[in-house]
Amino acid sequence: PDATARLDPHHDIADIDRRLFGGFVEHLGRHIYDGIFEPGHPAADDEGFRTDVVELVKELGVSTIRYPGGNFVSGYRWEDGIGPKDERPRRLDLAWHSTETNEVGLHEFQAWLDRVGSDLMLAVNLGTRGTQEALDLLEYANVDTPTQWTDQRAANGRERPFGVKMWCLGNEMDGPWQVGHRNADDYGKLAMRTAKAMRMIDPDVELVVCGSSGRGMPTFGSWERQVLEHTFDDVDYISCHSYYQEHDGNAQEFLASGVDMARFIESVVAIADTVAATKKSDKRIMISFDEWNVWYLHREDGSESGHEFKGGAWPVAPRLLEDKYNALDAVVFGDLLITLLQHADRVRSASLAQLVNVIAPIMTEPGGPAWRQTTFFPFSITSRLAHGRAMRVPVSSGSFVSQKLGEVANLNAVATIDDDGVSLFVVNRSTTVPTAPPHGAGAPRGASGGVGPAATRLRVDLAPLVRELGRDVAIVETHLLHDDDLYAANTLADQTRVGVR
Ligand code: AHR
Repeated sequence: PDATARLDPHHDIADIDRRLFGGFVEHLGRHIYDGIFEPGHPAADDEGFRTDVVELVKELGVSTIRYPGGNFVSGYRWEDGIGPKDERPRRLDLAWHSTETNEVGLHEFQAWLDRVGSDLMLAVNLGTRGTQEALDLLEYANVDTPTQWTDQRAANGRERPFGVKMWCLGNEMDGPWQVGHRNADDYGKLAMRTAKAMRMIDPDVELVVCGSSGRGMPTFGSWERQVLEHTFDDVDYISCHSYYQEHDGNAQEFLASGVDMARFIESVVAIADTVAATKKSDKRIMISFDEWNVWYLHREDGSESGHEFKGGAWPVAPRLLEDKYNALDAVVFGDLLITLLQHADRVRSASLAQLVNVIAPIMTEPGGPAWRQTTFFPFSITSRLAHGRAMRVPVSSGSFVSQKLGEVANLNAVATIDDDGVSLFVVNRSTTVPTAPPHGAGAPRGASGGVGPAATRLRVDLAPLVRELGRDVAIVETHLLHDDDLYAANTLADQTRVGVR
């Protein structure tokens, strides 16, 4: 074999929180309108939700879904989305230069979640708004005592509270593009005041404070430290956001993305624990990796995706961020999932950004079909099979050299174990066929030598597992996502070109 992996239950990481398999739905482009909600579509139900999309989201296996943004939330008035639909205002959405019709709001989104079987995670607007509006929304959503807000909720058809557990205190407030962007000190104070007040209404909420929009942000690190110095006692999670893409056709460099994600997580953990140490506290702040994916944000021509519309045009549900994912993207995506599982002790929540049409595993056409992109498969398989506890899987596989990240192992793996069995997840990051059998990390190999799928034979040592279980094991199912063409994709014209064997 070219590589060996060892399955040993003693290499325990942590129990896996189902929230690791969360998603994200933003009012952005055709995500809601023409995505999940399309009255008049042949597959739409009596409330206008596409049942074909509901079935695909169920198959994807998404636990908690973050809503309603994203950049959108930083200018959103949640009250616009409640009450009789014909009285709801049309508003400008500054984040995506679009018109928001407000046909879908909190009640409708909850009705959709009931169909897909996922939990709601809400973000409050700390861009154009502040503590009071966050409190109003929390009271409307979670309180059981008759008040003006809860009476209004009942009048809008929902007697019992929504009971939303997880709340994001704004979105990407470190980003200069964010409506209402603040510096770390101002945001930290606002988040702290808002968190304290929210807990006065509902002490059981779990709160996520904004970390950096990416590890490459100029304020990364100091942002986390300053924000946590203000909010440490009042929040449970700090967020991480990260998107990856292939640059300049360099597949090998792109395949190292999981290492960047791992360093991001480990850096944020180090900062959070440093703040804990200075506060002489045993409390551990967890990570909510509430935006992750492959996203072709930076285009070859220097423009950024999502900034197509300027000036006079404010379209409703325009085609935005409709990335088409190929086999290579799915491999990187699988590695990101493995990386999240490898950090299950501190990453207790994660949201794939996003779900339908917008940088999404599921695509739709108005009046037409819905189909699975390549990235659908690693998510659905991992969500279905990763249960119980996560296990470290040491792999000796040789390595390549990434320009940005140094030496990177060719293979990356993690396993999970519960009473039903063991699942092993492995990704091959190498684009070149190994030249010599690996011994430990081995001598780094360069990435040169042509780009193409590199078959690697992997031997899995089950002896420690068999010893621990006290009985033999058998393979129940195996799945392989592979394509001879790294750039093959599923499209409207060919919806099943890439699949799983
Ligand atoms: O997911 C798309 C956008 O990426 C989100 O709105 C924002 O939070 C991030 O910059």
